[in-house]
Amino acid sequence: MSKKVEEIINLLNKALETEHQANIQYLSHAEVVDGINSEPIIERLKEIAEDEKKHAAMLRTLIGDYLDGVPAITMAKAKNATTIEDIIKTNLKDEKEAVELYTQILEKVREAKQELPYNFLKIEHDLRHIIMDEQEHIAELRKLLGMKLSEIEKIK
Ligand SMILES: [Fe+2]
Ligand SMILES: [Fe+2]
Repeated sequence: MSKKVEEIINLLNKALETEHQANIQYLSHAEVVDGINSEPIIERLKEIAEDEKKHAAMLRTLIGDYLDGVPAITMAKAKNATTIEDIIKTNLKDEKEAVELYTQILEKVREAKQELPYNFLKIEHDLRHIIMDEQEHIAELRKLLGMKLSEIEKIK
C-alpha cells in the first residue's frame, strides 16, 4: 500500500471517529432540549444524528471493503451543551470542521487517482455525498437560530 493511500485511510478513520462523536452528541443534545417550542428542534437533531450514523457506515465500507484498511472503533471527544443556542452553535462549529476535513480528504483522493483504479469513483462519490449532507446540516441548524451565513463564519 502506498504512502498516499495509507494517509487517506488515516484521514478517513479520523473522520469516522468524528462521525461516531457527532451521532452520540446529537442524540444527547436532543434529550437536553426542552421547552414550549422544543419539539421541532428535537426532531431535527435526531434526524441529523441518523445522517451521521449513515456517514459512519459509509466510511467503514470505504475503509474496509474499498481500501483494505481497518475501520476505527474509537470516537472523538463529544461536547456538552445546555441551552438551545449553545447546542446549535456547538454543532455548527463541528459541522464547519467536518466540511473542512472532508474537503481536505477529497483533495487527497483526487491527487491519488492513479493509485485508485478500482475504487476512485466510489470514494469520490461517497465523500461528495457526505459533504453535501454536512452542508445541509449547516443550513438546517442556522435556520433554527435565524442566523445569516456571515454569522456562521464568526463561530469558532
Ligand atoms: Fe457526518
Ligand atoms: Fe453533520
